[in-house]
Amino acid sequence: MAERILITGGAQRLGLALARAMLAEGHRVAIHTRRSEPPGDLEAVVLQGDLDDPSVPARIVGEACARLGGLSVLVNNAARFEPDRIDTLDAASFDAHMATNLRAPLLAIQAFAASLEPDGTGLAVNIVDQKIRHPGAGYLSYTLSKIALEGAVRTLAAELAPRVRIAAIAPSIIYESAGMKPGRLETLGARLPLRRATRPEEVAAALAYLIETPSVTGETLFVDSGESLRARSVILGAS
Ligand SMILES: NC(=O)c1ccc[n+]([C@@H]2O[C@H](COP(=O)([O-])OP(=O)(O)OC[C@H]3O[C@@H](n4cnc5c(N)ncnc54)[C@H](OP(=O)(O)O)[C@@H]3O)[C@@H](O)[C@H]2O)c1
Repeated sequence: MAERILITGGAQRLGLALARAMLAEGHRVAIHTRRSEPPGDLEAVVLQGDLDDPSVPARIVGEACARLGGLSVLVNNAARFEPDRIDTLDAASFDAHMATNLRAPLLAIQAFAASLEPDGTGLAVNIVDQKIRHPGAGYLSYTLSKIALEGAVRTLAAELAPRVRIAAIAPSIIYESAGMKPGRLETLGARLPLRRATRPEEVAAALAYLIETPSVTGETLFVDSGESLRARSVILGAS
């Protein structure tokens, strides 16, 4: 069945890969973007907004519903990812991570649940991070925001059943981040238990599984080559 899917942060990297995969499966897709221009060939509805503005999540859900004739799947993918540690923590950065990575997804889920027809059902998927199981120093606010978002999965799954299923996908490293040395992605991937970095299409496969399996809710799928099983110090190494 063709789903009507909204993906936040869908103009580049993982969000774009998810959008392309869902379009290839015959679903109708709306992407949200803040500043990035989506590729011209992407056959998706494009919505714009800064998710740090608390009015934006409900607005983009409403616009996606209007443009697609309702929504059946919400993918909270957009995220802020900036380094900090307890000794460098400041209130502005902490609040910004919580606004983008926790408050915005929750407000989007609220609007999504309210948008469903009385007899309608839906699925909300939060993209988190394997760091929630094996946190390491360096991304304190980011990690805490993702731990809280994953914590909301089971709570909301219980609260919103039977109409809305809630799930999360926790990838390991997929893309290089700003300032990473060339080749670092491959080096880190080779140190994981399964000796490979996660590929975007594997996250898309997890999303497809969640869409196609109506008995699954409250679940977090780790798509992480086993990274969450290992000590961070072993994986990051000395280099
Ligand atoms: N990359 C990885 O290796 C990795 C590993 C584990 C988990 N993840 C998770 O997977 C997801 C996607 O990762 P990614 O690396 O593809 O993400 P990304 O490129 O860092 O960010 C995705 C999008 O989030 C949007 N965004 C950030 N702050 C926003 C705000 N305040 N309002 C609206 N949009 C905002 C950006 O939109 P604009 O570009 O339009 O500004 C960006 O394109 C994230 O949830 C991330 O935590 C990624």
